[in-house]
Amino acid sequence: MLASRLVKRFKCAAPAVKSGRNAKTLRTAPAPSARPTVVSRSFLGSDLIRGRTNSNQEFAENPKGVPSSQYHRTSTRYTNTTPELLQILSAKDSIPHREPQGLMDGLVNRIVRFLRVASDAYFKDDLIYRAMMLETVAAVPGMVGGMMHHLRSLRRVENDNWIRTLLDEAENERIHLFCWLDVLRPTWSQKWLIISVQAVFFTGFLGAYILFPKSCHRFVGYLEEEAFKTYTHLLEYIDSGKIKDRPAPKLAIDYWNMPEGSTMRDMTVIIREDEADHARVNHSMANMITSLRKRDMVYTDITIDDSVFETVPGTHIVPGGTVEAISKAAKQNEKKL
Ligand SMILES: [Fe+2]
Ligand SMILES: [Fe+2]
Repeated sequence: MLASRLVKRFKCAAPAVKSGRNAKTLRTAPAPSARPTVVSRSFLGSDLIRGRTNSNQEFAENPKGVPSSQYHRTSTRYTNTTPELLQILSAKDSIPHREPQGLMDGLVNRIVRFLRVASDAYFKDDLIYRAMMLETVAAVPGMVGGMMHHLRSLRRVENDNWIRTLLDEAENERIHLFCWLDVLRPTWSQKWLIISVQAVFFTGFLGAYILFPKSCHRFVGYLEEEAFKTYTHLLEYIDSGKIKDRPAPKLAIDYWNMPEGSTMRDMTVIIREDEADHARVNHSMANMITSLRKRDMVYTDITIDDSVFETVPGTHIVPGGTVEAISKAAKQNEKKL
């Protein structure tokens, strides 16, 4: 009875498409030929009134739906993704990296390097499958950290400005996951793998966060650096034709406010940039814990704000944390001013 209910729960609607190494196991969702308007339940009632949608045909087939593109919009800095900004971010060739300092940093870095080698061996060239699996676990640390800080704040009756940042990170990763789910649907056996990995990772990370919060943020920082590399490889594969480009999911276009007609490549560019931000924030948090310890770990008045980010060349941050591309004309005007 329980088994049949679970099988029913994980049954996938998308047809199987045979291609590549994992032809027998992967189910690739067909590229959308049109984007019909489907009114879906939204956290914002105004969406319903305007008849807006955060769903496309593929997701409409999935009764569980997709996250609202409006809800937790602040979980990304890239809420005004112009073609110009995409061009600038796409041309970025430097990979963010922080050199390990000290014994624990070195150990954490080695663990991440080991996970990288193991992932390379398991996924090989299936980079979209890899991205999807990566995002299923990437949303765990932010939620664990957010939960721990939330409970700490309640317990100590102290304000804690890290909670929102960590929960935003978790939400941002969840949006990444749903964007990849539009491209690739996991089979029920892959969902079991996801559940198993999450169960182990959540338990392990929670235990580690209770004991070594600083090293956990450092671990996430290095993990995000690897995610940046993975997405850089994916971009190379798309550019060389090894992976066929396709229209970006409607969710991605709405969430990052991307230009109509954006592709999976554009989506990859912007996800990669989110990962770079996660790396910077988590490394910053690890650094801050060192200084906070000297003040009895008081998180009051400590905010991860835009000052911890390096502004991407050719862009600037406007109030609200939005990143905008600076056009040549605007640059010249700014110089005149
Ligand atoms: Fe991600
Ligand atoms: Fe990330």
